[in-house]
Amino acid sequence: MMISNSNTEHRRAPLSSVHANMWFCVCVCPSVMASAMEEFQVTVHTLPAPTSGTYSILWLTLIGSEGGETPPISVNAGANQHHLLPGSACVVRVWSEVALGRVVLVRLRLEARMGFPDLDWHCRGVEVRRLCDRQEEEAGLHHQGAEHFPCSRWLRSVDGDVELRNGDLCLFNSETVQTLKDHRLKELHTKQQHIRWRTFAEGVPHCVDMTSLKELGPNLSYTRQSPGINLQYLRGFPERAESWSSFTELETMFSHNGSQNTVAKYVQAHWSEDWFFGYQCLNGCNPLMVRQTRLLPPNLSINSDILCPFLPDGSSLDQELERGSIFLLDYEMLEGVPANVINGKQQYLAAPLVLLHLNQQGELKPIAIQLQQAPGPQNPVFLPSDPGPDWLLAKTWVRCSDFQCHQLSSHFLRTHLLGEVCCTATLRQLPEVHPLHQLLMPHIKTTLQINIQARGSLLAANGVFDKAIGCGLEALPVILSRATERLSYRSLCVPEDLADRGIHTLKQCYYAHDALRVWNALHRFVSGWVDVYYHGDQDVKQDSELQSWITEIYTHGFLQLPHSGCPQSFQTKPELCQFVTMVIYCCSALHAAVNFSQVDFDLWMPNCPAYMTHPPPQTKGMLTEEDILSILPDVNSTCSLLITLSLLSQPAADYVPLCHYREAVFSSGAPRRLVEKVQAELRAISDDITDRNKKLELPYEYMSPDRIENSVAI
Ligand SMILES: *[C@@H]1O[C@H](CO)[C@@H](O)[C@H](O)[C@H]1NC(C)=O
Ligand SMILES: *[C@@H]1O[C@H](CO)[C@@H](O)[C@H](O)[C@H]1NC(C)=O
Ligand SMILES: *[C@@H]1O[C@H](CO)[C@@H](O)[C@H](O)[C@H]1NC(C)=O
Ligand SMILES: *[C@@H]1O[C@H](CO)[C@@H](O)[C@H](O)[C@H]1NC(C)=O
Ligand SMILES: *[C@@H]1O[C@H](CO)[C@@H](O)[C@H](O)[C@H]1NC(C)=O
Ligand SMILES: [Fe+2]
Repeated sequence: MMISNSNTEHRRAPLSSVHANMWFCVCVCPSVMASAMEEFQVTVHTLPAPTSGTYSILWLTLIGSEGGETPPISVNAGANQHHLLPGSACVVRVWSEVALGRVVLVRLRLEARMGFPDLDWHCRGVEVRRLCDRQEEEAGLHHQGAEHFPCSRWLRSVDGDVELRNGDLCLFNSETVQTLKDHRLKELHTKQQHIRWRTFAEGVPHCVDMTSLKELGPNLSYTRQSPGINLQYLRGFPERAESWSSFTELETMFSHNGSQNTVAKYVQAHWSEDWFFGYQCLNGCNPLMVRQTRLLPPNLSINSDILCPFLPDGSSLDQELERGSIFLLDYEMLEGVPANVINGKQQYLAAPLVLLHLNQQGELKPIAIQLQQAPGPQNPVFLPSDPGPDWLLAKTWVRCSDFQCHQLSSHFLRTHLLGEVCCTATLRQLPEVHPLHQLLMPHIKTTLQINIQARGSLLAANGVFDKAIGCGLEALPVILSRATERLSYRSLCVPEDLADRGIHTLKQCYYAHDALRVWNALHRFVSGWVDVYYHGDQDVKQDSELQSWITEIYTHGFLQLPHSGCPQSFQTKPELCQFVTMVIYCCSALHAAVNFSQVDFDLWMPNCPAYMTHPPPQTKGMLTEEDILSILPDVNSTCSLLITLSLLSQPAADYVPLCHYREAVFSSGAPRRLVEKVQAELRAISDDITDRNKKLELPYEYMSPDRIENSVAI
């Protein structure tokens, strides 16, 4: 028992006798007791979810600003016969023999109850109300308002003492009570022991050192509720380790499995057209590769005359370059990476260079494709004037290369891994009371679980990369590390990225247009948030927790590569706002752009083949359109990939849209006003996108804020 004997009687006595007793004491020695006896009414809240309750005994202590504390009392044992049931509010009285000053911490400890299962408990929070003492009562003063100590976490008996502080967010330097400074340091110390870094692959951002959801624990995991999905038409092909025998066969499968998807149907109808190839570079599932170029890449072996037929009459390549109408796709990241062996057969990858021309009708069309980086006689440049099947196959090769870069660089690295780095750094370096911890966590928290699961299944032996994708387990770390080496901070910040790639002014790039609007709304929201807590650049410079946070991200995320341009410290508020906006954007909007779209564009397999069964062609003029099928993925790996993509496409039943928050800190005061403002701005963007899309043959919906999920949850 933790209750000290001398006070047990007071605590167990009914209220009236305590008051009588106190009154008696006050009479005897008024000067001592009136100041020493303090009484609190404490309410302990359990989350209303069905499994939140526990049988275990809860011990509670109040800690004051002067360093004093009350003896622990049990909320649900001894005199207090409450039960920690889901949704319950258990009210207990707590007395202090010493003057506590302000109550700054509530310490909780669970102790397994003899003979009962040791269940975890989901505490919603604790409310502490100081009751007026006798003198105040006589003077007619009323009860003071309750102070809230939010929790919203799972507590276990093995955790020992867990201390909650009130919900007011602040920076370390604004902390006035020593007890709270100590509490901050203790919290980070504990987190740093529990949450550590690990190298997942050489040259790739580090990940959290956990391999199971059990280690992650319930505080950081979530359940994604999804409705069932019908995979029956894809499941029937597990044995067919052979090519599709005809386009008719592929269409039969597609009509069972793509016909409800209007985008996929559109893709099937237009996948072989040149303008649609260019459209996908701007508005497809990977809008991050294409860039304007003013110079021809040295490795592309063309002379300008060859391209004249594909340029406007009277113009030349030099004029078009100068005008800014020439764009480039460069998949050099894939040069020389070892391709996978699938169904017992060696597969192939290429590292193409593609020139595209933006014509006066606003169409972006490919005009030259070289499938390997090093020029040479075995590496012809394909042109729109080549025989149809040759040109189509060259474009299909590019789409296959794009698939690899899309999955690993645009999707996994730039959203999933970046989110995990920021989440791990936040848990380790920013205490919960730090305003940026609270702002960021709703956007990054889910990355730990989803990435642990991805490393354990999709990216592991016998997972979909191993069995059905050209960059198998051997190429995966190579491509990821090359993508990391090429990852620049500027390319993660939308305004810089779009301007650097020269697509910010293309009105037919809906991605660019929508991305910029969403970025700007997020940036205003983040700036508003930062303004509440940081009064000047000085506050930023002196926030040692923040500085450790960014150093950790630079070290473990950008691997201390100075050319990445990732800040190593923050000097000003604008620098800080840009970085925080980038993190939120990548984990929400960018993930929506590269994830939502994948099923739509991949369902018609020839549009995005995951691997190629033959080496890149070295000659022209020997191919028929049906031959192309024998170069594309086998039946069973096609279906197995589509099953994975379909599962990943399940909308969550508990979907949280961008900038909607369930956490209490967003529900009042300045945070609430900022949230209302950004939500209104995002609604206006959604409405504009809806109006625009009504006029489009193929609507671009991925970046509409009402469809953007708040975090990377799948
Ligand atoms: C949940 O978080 C609290 C406070 O950070 C920690 O003490 C506790 O161990 C966590 N619970 C679990 C089950 O990991
Ligand atoms: C495809 O079939 C082959 C042969 O039956 C099998 O070894 C392979 O695992 C299958 N692949 C998938 C992805 O189901
Ligand atoms: C496959 O077809 C079934 C039935 O036609 C459909 O319910 C399912 O959503 C389809 N899958 C995809 C990924 O479109
Ligand atoms: C040109 O090709 C060579 C040989 O593959 C390669 O090493 C080099 O990086 C390429 N240059 C460019 C600019 O891509
Ligand atoms: C991923 O994309 C699918 C559609 O392809 C969508 O249903 C799902 O909600 C998306 N997930 C997120 C987190 O945006
Ligand atoms: Fe994802």
